[in-house]
Amino acid sequence: MAHWLVTGSGGMLGLDLQVVLALSGVPEEDVTGLTRADLDVTDAQAVRDAVRGHDVVVNCAAYTKVDEAEADEATAFAVNAVGAAHVADACRATGARLVHVSTDYVFSGDATEPYAEDAPLSPLSAYGRTKAAGEWAVQARCPEAWLVRTAWLYGAGGPNFVRTMARLADRHETISVVDDQRGQPTWTMDVARAIVRLVEGQAPYGVWHATSQGEATKYDLTRELFRLLGLDPGRVRPTTSDQFPLPAPRPAYSVLGHDAWRMSRLERLPDWREGLAAAVADGVADEATDEATDEAAQ
Ligand SMILES: NC(=O)c1ccc[n+]([C@@H]2O[C@H](COP(=O)([O-])OP(=O)(O)OC[C@H]3O[C@@H](n4cnc5c(N)ncnc54)[C@H](OP(=O)(O)O)[C@@H]3O)[C@@H](O)[C@H]2O)c1
Repeated sequence: MAHWLVTGSGGMLGLDLQVVLALSGVPEEDVTGLTRADLDVTDAQAVRDAVRGHDVVVNCAAYTKVDEAEADEATAFAVNAVGAAHVADACRATGARLVHVSTDYVFSGDATEPYAEDAPLSPLSAYGRTKAAGEWAVQARCPEAWLVRTAWLYGAGGPNFVRTMARLADRHETISVVDDQRGQPTWTMDVARAIVRLVEGQAPYGVWHATSQGEATKYDLTRELFRLLGLDPGRVRPTTSDQFPLPAPRPAYSVLGHDAWRMSRLERLPDWREGLAAAVADGVADEATDEATDEAAQ
């Protein structure tokens, strides 16, 4: 049985990955989850010590504050690029298999068709630049790695757009949501299950896009959420991003292609509506008291 290490294990994806590993029958003693307090990935020696003895390392540690990164790119770079390099070096040195998680923000979002796994990187934001640097570091230092890009995540374990919308639905009669950003809303449980399929299915190393099938705007996503919650989707009004100026630019078209899945025999992630329905049934929008994330208003 493989020994798994999850870095950033207190984050939204890290938490669900540990749930999925347990549900997949991996014994508790074969999973080490290290939160930021347990392991700071910017500390190379600590990373080497932590990786030793593990067969599979999933790097869920990241600086994910997209807007704050604009004013503090150095801190984001230290975690997302240098930290990723430390994890890759330690995996290369010990022979551990690495899953490194990245983002649609490595692309500018001015495409008109889904980004292929090998599309050139073109980040718009500081966060995107630091994640792109992390990808380069991982690919250069540990080519035997799965580089898993995901996008538009929601889950029970952290503040996110879906939980914010559920919370606003309780407080306001109508809410305005941007209708000019397209992407693939994706449940962290579905990404976690996809990661386990890649590792256990011994999928080829390289870039994989772990996002839902189909595409939606944030307005579409919010209307669907309202429908699933038994609320009137007519309470959701479309608006445009220029009504919500934010420090970091958002890619307008963040749809990732799934050629790698298509060429493999592995099961893909579900359609975004199916994923959202399963997540709502699982309680992802319950007691959504987190602070607002972004692009929301009443
Ligand atoms: N959320 C999204 O919509 C989204 C979209 C695309 C890709 N991704 C990627 O998916 C991955 C998981 O993201 P997530 O949504 O689960 O984010 P998250 O909830 O912010 O989790 C990231 C975790 O990393 C921890 N961390 C921060 N700095 C660290 C350090 N120096 N050393 C160790 N751990 C550190 C954070 O701890 P603190 O909370 O204590 O800082 C947090 O627990 C990341 O690679 C992210 O870039 C996310």
